[in-house]
Amino acid sequence: MKKVKVHSPGTVANIVCGFDILGLALSEPYDVMEVMLLDRPEVIIHNRDIFNLPTEAEKNVAGVVLLSVMERMNNTIGFEVTVEKHIKPGSGIGSSAASAAGAAVAANYLLGNIFSSDEVVQFAMNGEKLASGVKHADNIAPCILGGISLIRSIHPLDIVSIPAPDLFVTVVHPQIEVRTSDARQILKQQVLLKDAIKQWGNIAGLVTGFMKNDYDLIGRSLEDVIIEPVRSILIPGFDELKVKCKEAGALGGGISGSGPSVFMLSKDESTAKAVGHVMSQVYEQIGIDYNIYVTTINKKGVEVVSSE
Ligand code: HSE
Repeated sequence: MKKVKVHSPGTVANIVCGFDILGLALSEPYDVMEVMLLDRPEVIIHNRDIFNLPTEAEKNVAGVVLLSVMERMNNTIGFEVTVEKHIKPGSGIGSSAASAAGAAVAANYLLGNIFSSDEVVQFAMNGEKLASGVKHADNIAPCILGGISLIRSIHPLDIVSIPAPDLFVTVVHPQIEVRTSDARQILKQQVLLKDAIKQWGNIAGLVTGFMKNDYDLIGRSLEDVIIEPVRSILIPGFDELKVKCKEAGALGGGISGSGPSVFMLSKDESTAKAVGHVMSQVYEQIGIDYNIYVTTINKKGVEVVSSE
């Protein structure tokens, strides 16, 4: 086998209260990547989209991941990758993670799946480090594994897959760019104990809610008293959006990753669509262009769609 095509999904990191430790995969949007195995140590990149991302392997998220796999293979092989991005960089729905995870899964597949899923996550995290300066895995892990992931620890890596209920996800991406590095820089370095206690309660409540399919508990636990109050100022209309989406029936939601996308969880498709309608009304009124996705939790993660 010399060539593989994968679909690499968008992700919602943090899931509101779980900053850097929780994430879920989306059924849409997803990037399409074709990766070919070469018999020489070289990484060649082609972009088949409008985003003009760098094609030098060392500066490209998928490129650094493929270089790290190549080095692990003692530079005996290389890769040629064609990337067709549908997840806009800087959107907050895991664009860089999709490139990194898609490259890592495809490379492993071409090599006969010799690496464990933890090792594939480690390779992919090299790409996330290039993109945001930090090796966080809350986009990478759900992108690779599908469903909902808990990153209990990065050093050593300890990822726990959490059973994902059949929830619908509505995402609005206002067309402004928020760089993850900027959105991390504005965060306070210290947390009050009373806020930490609230956050711990919400994280435990959210995970329990997912495991027990307890939608009310999920809704009550979708609260962030630490990160959201700081970051939400970067997102026009955020407070109004949240109130109106909940009035339309959403269980709850918040900033997707580091923003500017905002996501909401709903029990059924008609509510998820009504939430999307409310989101479009808010941004029409503010006068900012936007994209909306009404989708579900993707339980497969990066998917191999063909190989030859
Ligand atoms: N957990 C990261 C953050 C995700 O919120 O900064 C970035 O996509």
